Amino acid sequence: MNLLNVYDKWPVEPVKGLGCRLWDAGGNEYLDFYGGHAVISIGHCHPVYVKMMKEQLGKLGFYSNAVQNTLQNCLAERLGDMCGYPDYSLFLCNSGAEANENALKLASFHTGRKKVLAFGKAFHGRTSGAVSVTDNPKIRSPFNATDNVVFVPLNDIESARKELNTGNYAAAIVEGIQGVAGIRVPESGFLQGLRNACNLNDTLLILDEVQSGYGRTGSFFAHQQSGIKADMITTAKGMGNGFPVGGVIVSPDIKVEKGMLGTTFGGNQLACTAAIAVLKVMKEENLMGNAKSTGEYLVSALKGNHAISEIRGRGLMIGLEIKEGYSDLRNRLLFEKHIFTGASGKNVIRLLPPLCTGKKEADIFIKSFNELTK
Ligand SMILES: Cc1ncc(COP(=O)(O)O)c(C=O)c1O
Repeated sequence: MNLLNVYDKWPVEPVKGLGCRLWDAGGNEYLDFYGGHAVISIGHCHPVYVKMMKEQLGKLGFYSNAVQNTLQNCLAERLGDMCGYPDYSLFLCNSGAEANENALKLASFHTGRKKVLAFGKAFHGRTSGAVSVTDNPKIRSPFNATDNVVFVPLNDIESARKELNTGNYAAAIVEGIQGVAGIRVPESGFLQGLRNACNLNDTLLILDEVQSGYGRTGSFFAHQQSGIKADMITTAKGMGNGFPVGGVIVSPDIKVEKGMLGTTFGGNQLACTAAIAVLKVMKEENLMGNAKSTGEYLVSALKGNHAISEIRGRGLMIGLEIKEGYSDLRNRLLFEKHIFTGASGKNVIRLLPPLCTGKKEADIFIKSFNELTK
């Protein structure tokens, strides 16, 4: 059997990782400024994570949601305290798309409405509901296209208000910082305006923090820097540092009944252990503070580079808009300098390194980038 051919793949295979570094089978070392797509939060193979996972796997890796699982309660309590939403509840699932599916479903159950407001260039995942609020017709099949979703441009508060004021919307869904779109930060006035318009119309505000959450931008969730609270927050990626874990963080004001949501794998013992280990290391090593300071250091050092037309983002979620003539930079960073980065379209290099990335690694990136753009 062949693999279904749906990915563009680099001819590189990392077989070992530690912290911000990767190695291939030939022993060649790489710097990871991609984090496997913003997934590696506390660093590859962190010893605390490895120890906790090994111990849990030796005890019990999985049992279903039909039984008690105190690891889930422990995770919910610690996450609530660390993320600043201690009075909200946690539903555990396995991925970002699944988290968004469940949040949209809860919003519709709660309000009895079916319309959802989404934003230009948004990406919320590839499953049916998540892709229907994703602004990319190329990945939305005819089955996923629906009249229930209306897109308005990000930061266009007047258009958002006009739609929401019809009173027909169950939810508005917006990324804390748009990732796939090339790192686009919503204006804080926009998020505040959206919050108010949702309040006025009994519409739920869902913040998709799948990519921008978990300390990456210097606060636990990116939207917290705009001083607003969400009704639901969706999370995944960095939550398990590579083990598939996702979650929906749900306001106590939202009506939820038994049986409305469910999953076979979500919240299993190993997944919870991964997520608890991530929170423990994040706290002990102040990774949120590190993401902020390393991000600021990188941005200030790259600011003058003539190949960059714009730098966007916060903390370790950085988009470098590259001028024409430098479109091969991402490949050159990998093949000539052994640095993994992310991309968005042809012109944006996305930096999403593990949150333990420090000044030393930032200096390697800056030197390499400057040499390639001399
Ligand atoms: C903002 C956002 N939401 C949702 C998703 C989907 O997450 P997953 O691939 O885990 O389903 C992604 C993935 O890149 C994302 O960036």
